[in-house]
Amino acid sequence: MNSEYTSPADSADALATLLSEAYGGDSGGSITPPIVQSSLFAFDSYEAFEDRMAGRTDTALYTRVQNPTVSAFESAMAQAEGGDTAVAFASGMGAISATMLALVKPGDRIACVEHVYPDSYRLFERLMRPFGVDISYHPLSAFENDPQLLDGVKVAYLESPNSLMFHTLNLGTVAAHAKRHGTRTVIDNSWATPVFQRPLEHGIDVTLHSASKYISGHSDTVAGVVVSSEQIIHEIRDLTLPLLGAKLAPFEAFLLMRGLRTLVPRMHRHQDSTNRILDRLASFEGVEKINTASVSPDKGILGRSGLFSVQFDESVDIRRLCNALSIFKLGVSWGGFESLALPARVGLAQAGAENSMQRFKVPANLVRISIGLEGADDLWKDLSHAITQARR
Ligand SMILES: Cc1ncc(COP(=O)(O)O)c(C=O)c1O
Repeated sequence: MNSEYTSPADSADALATLLSEAYGGDSGGSITPPIVQSSLFAFDSYEAFEDRMAGRTDTALYTRVQNPTVSAFESAMAQAEGGDTAVAFASGMGAISATMLALVKPGDRIACVEHVYPDSYRLFERLMRPFGVDISYHPLSAFENDPQLLDGVKVAYLESPNSLMFHTLNLGTVAAHAKRHGTRTVIDNSWATPVFQRPLEHGIDVTLHSASKYISGHSDTVAGVVVSSEQIIHEIRDLTLPLLGAKLAPFEAFLLMRGLRTLVPRMHRHQDSTNRILDRLASFEGVEKINTASVSPDKGILGRSGLFSVQFDESVDIRRLCNALSIFKLGVSWGGFESLALPARVGLAQAGAENSMQRFKVPANLVRISIGLEGADDLWKDLSHAITQARR
């Protein structure tokens, strides 16, 4: 690899080049990583086997903890995020739970942003609280403005922007408060990807992703990844990767490497189409409020991405709006080719234990929109037609 690109990329072009070169593996000239579909790796001798078990070497041993295709993806993500190293998981939730369970123990406290991704909330409330971890939730502004908030807090769990509401944080300010309190900071960076936000550069300790979203980019993979320092990734590799076992499969890692290569142009197209649609949506009848992350290089956010939410006024029947959409599909998740709408009412109706949408009272007339890669004008026609059809 060209050494010029081994540090965090400082522009979208540099990042695109970095990603094109990120696979530096030795596989006979193949420009994509081979899919090493093997559960175990055999040794030539007793000595080589013992060296590996004793940690004197670090070759692949067993795919639950290490696999060459997965390592290629981890290495590319570490470079893209500007971290020392990375560890990949079978899902974003695998990454989040393995990270948080490695970093806290009973009696510790987590401070978390409000409107956190619903299953992260359920992880904290259903799994970690019963095991003696205390969790408090705060508006994003409190993480910036209240320097005492992190007093006694082991880990600050952040999203910027946060799910559904798209409030943002000044990452540098929060990282500085956290360092003063000895608090570790973890951010879910799925929304921005390293194209629009590189949290480690602002002093955040851990950046993690649901790689099922923009990193994969094609709605055909569920995966997660964590990027951080050698020390923190070692803590995860030592404890929760092997013992919880949520490892990434080699084929999924191959798909993610493929997704990474088009990440930069995809993110820019998502953003361009989103800007065009937001411009028109802002003054459209029936729209009460648009929640979208404000691009702010000072805060660490370099771009808008393709995800935002719209609050409609009383004149709009949300059910009718959704049923009138044609190009937009109705569904969870985001970050793939296809544009999606997720009405908050559906999330509020979710069965089972309380989710964060219910806890933090997301407005019922809100619809989250993911702008895909279809033509922006066609998307606008579809959305504006559906809103008009839904007005009472
Ligand atoms: C912001 C965010 N974080 C994490 C996740 C969980 O990721 P996964 O579905 O890959 O487990 C999601 C999934 O929708 C998400 O939106």
